[in-house]
Amino acid sequence: MLVTSTDLFTKALAEKYAIGAFNVNNLEIIQGILEGCKAKQSPVILQVSAGAREYAGSIFLRKLIEGGAEIYPEIPIVFHLDHGEDFAICKDCIDNGFTSVMIDGSKHPFEENMRLTKEVVDYAHSKGVVVEGELGKLEGMEDDVKVAKGEGIYTDPDQAAEFVEKTGIDSLAVAIGTSHGAYKFPLDAKPELDFERCGKIAELVKIPLVLHGASSVLQDFVAEINSYGGEVKGSQGVPEAMITEASKHGVAKVNIDTDIRLAMTASMRKNLKEMPENFDVRKPLGAARDAVQKMVEHKIDILGSAGKI
Ligand code: G3H
Ligand code: 13P
Ligand code: ZN
Repeated sequence: MLVTSTDLFTKALAEKYAIGAFNVNNLEIIQGILEGCKAKQSPVILQVSAGAREYAGSIFLRKLIEGGAEIYPEIPIVFHLDHGEDFAICKDCIDNGFTSVMIDGSKHPFEENMRLTKEVVDYAHSKGVVVEGELGKLEGMEDDVKVAKGEGIYTDPDQAAEFVEKTGIDSLAVAIGTSHGAYKFPLDAKPELDFERCGKIAELVKIPLVLHGASSVLQDFVAEINSYGGEVKGSQGVPEAMITEASKHGVAKVNIDTDIRLAMTASMRKNLKEMPENFDVRKPLGAARDAVQKMVEHKIDILGSAGKI
């Protein structure tokens, strides 16, 4: 069943767990995620980035997600736009079946971010769609926007309070030390997130917080990719204990894309290498789908959303 995130987040905040927001790009990813949610009886957020729309097209993705909602009616599914860059894309998604959109005005100055975000909120709320805004800047690569190392800006709690009050957003993405992609913290560094800041923001804004860039870059998967001919460079992600910790500091939505990419890549490399005679593409794609399911089940355990349907 397609739903907005409102009730899911209220329950998650009250019971101190978080809901996984997984990026989707094709059939196998959507199937793997939903099978994992069914096995764990967990609600889920399926999110579509600009890159996903460019790759698969909005209509295919919408039809696949609607198909998922029909096949798994017991799973509450939020259909979410990830990193909407302007009003036009948010409006298009609101008008075409999304139940939730993110307007990412974080690259703009504060006042412009507020103006743009409020414009989206006014339109979305008039159509029963909820909105995630972002304040602060994460390092790393998001679509074509690259924020260099050292140029990220942590979310300021007082500014966040003003931002939420003036825009009327339903959830807020915060920058507390995470970053997008597979290269978050050097292998010899001690990963740190600013939970004190996170808790202070949560207290002031009184709406659910969102953690982007929350993949853990599990080393077994990097090693497996590289053992089958890959060349993924070593780096650390956000330790999984910190993801669990985040849900105790006001975070109700946790964005995960990279860990699913790594799991699929490891599985496809292994399958192609071990079955050199095979040319039935359903074999590597099916193995990748199973890998997505396993990863999602694991993430649901970390997030604490099992049995929360
Ligand atoms: O935040 C970014 C997500 O990982 C989506 O990445 O634009 O390559 O699909 P993408
Ligand atoms: P990761 O790259 O850490 O998986 O983050 C994904 C994300 O934040 C999507 O919006
Ligand atoms: Zn993100």
